[in-house]
Amino acid sequence: MYLGIDLGTSSVKALIINDNQAIVASASADLDVSRPAAGWSEQDPADWISATQKALLQLKSDHAPLLAAVSGIGLSGHMHGATLLDDCDRVLRPCILWNDTRSHAEAALLDSNPLFRDLSGNIVFPGFTAPKLLWVKNNEPDIFAKTGKVLLPKDYLRLWLTGEYVSDMSDASGTSWLDVGKRVWASPLLDACDMNISHMPRLVEGSDVSGVLRGALAAEWGMAGNVVVAGGAGDNAATAIGMGTIAEGQAFVSLGTSGVIFAANDSYRPNADSAVHTFCHAIAERWHQMGVILSATDTLNWFAGITGRSAAELTGELGDTLRAPGAIFLPYLSGERTPHNDAAIRGALTNISHATDRPAITAAILQGVAFAFRDNLEALGTVGTKVDRLLASGGGSRSGFWLKTIATALNVPIDVPAAGEVGAAFGAARLGMLASIGAKGLSLCTPPATDHTIEPDADFLSAFDDAYQQYRKTYPALRSTIS
Ligand code: XUL
Repeated sequence: MYLGIDLGTSSVKALIINDNQAIVASASADLDVSRPAAGWSEQDPADWISATQKALLQLKSDHAPLLAAVSGIGLSGHMHGATLLDDCDRVLRPCILWNDTRSHAEAALLDSNPLFRDLSGNIVFPGFTAPKLLWVKNNEPDIFAKTGKVLLPKDYLRLWLTGEYVSDMSDASGTSWLDVGKRVWASPLLDACDMNISHMPRLVEGSDVSGVLRGALAAEWGMAGNVVVAGGAGDNAATAIGMGTIAEGQAFVSLGTSGVIFAANDSYRPNADSAVHTFCHAIAERWHQMGVILSATDTLNWFAGITGRSAAELTGELGDTLRAPGAIFLPYLSGERTPHNDAAIRGALTNISHATDRPAITAAILQGVAFAFRDNLEALGTVGTKVDRLLASGGGSRSGFWLKTIATALNVPIDVPAAGEVGAAFGAARLGMLASIGAKGLSLCTPPATDHTIEPDADFLSAFDDAYQQYRKTYPALRSTIS
């Protein structure tokens, strides 16, 4: 048996797979995000540990024999977060998350140093880890001075699980400190933040062993004494491992809190200017590219909060047939990454009329997210990554209507996996399996069976295309209103 633990933004999910990779048990525990100031987004790392404990104790109470048979654990987590520890491993401040944009000035400053794009292969986005450290240095100098180690969120869980400071290549790619082509920490980039290699964890590939589960935890959970913990992956690369998206030409769309179009690459092909992310994959000698939108399901949840209806009720009001676009929604609730790299931009709802009722706004929100994905697809096209079909993943993909909206906005068919979990926790469990059996993974990371394919709706292709053109023109107009 193998255990996958995914530290998501809104919950920790733990699941167990057997030797045939069938899911035999799962449990989860919710997490909150705190937003203490505009543009800020934080979590207390202690909450990650208590949520993981809760999920594991649930597994123990429901499936003790399965948990006892686990020989490998894999970790996945939301990326880019800065967990600052002092020399005694005490957490110095709440973790600053991936969708926190407070360090936009520091990001722009680092990004103006050409070494960053050259070595890390990416724009220094405000959500990435390095500018957060510069923000802490500028605004909380006492905390910066006490910082002995900087860990990504799932790597803090690993420290608790194993006592080891380790990260994997895929998650490390999102720090702006990794030489993504060479898969090593880049000292000049650490220097630029007044840091050095001693602040960094050791690096392993996602399918390598990073450590062994601590005896005390193994005993508490009724597990064996020699359970290995794999390097694991950032949540997107972990999802890709779960989806079997590991070779050139394979791609998926993830409709979670953030939205991602992820394409696997056989070689390192950075193109930072496009705002496409180029990161290491979770298996050796592979990379991936992705377009990232900061607010995907978050947009519908925002509208659900305002209207007092659940997201499912709102989409339920739309029926099954697509609607011709009317109102246009720009989903920039927390700024945007691909293609704009704009932390200051905010969302908009335009083209409203007396006829714009609640369902029309819901439809506009789903379409706006779909148009943001189309921006990502076009950005991937500019770097030579062609996407002909996509696999669906993420909580939002439970809405067939939303997937149909995306397929039509992108004019790309979307395959919906047959029932079963193929997300980040499953990918993490697969990495736990690879580390435990010492395999590299290519043949074991197969794509899921397709339950059905959602084709673009031919009746709406041209109306969606017209609305997309209108959507594209709205961003520069909106931008011009911000000083
Ligand atoms: C990727 C990114 C998000 C987070 C959230 O660059 O910031 O997808 O990993 O889960």
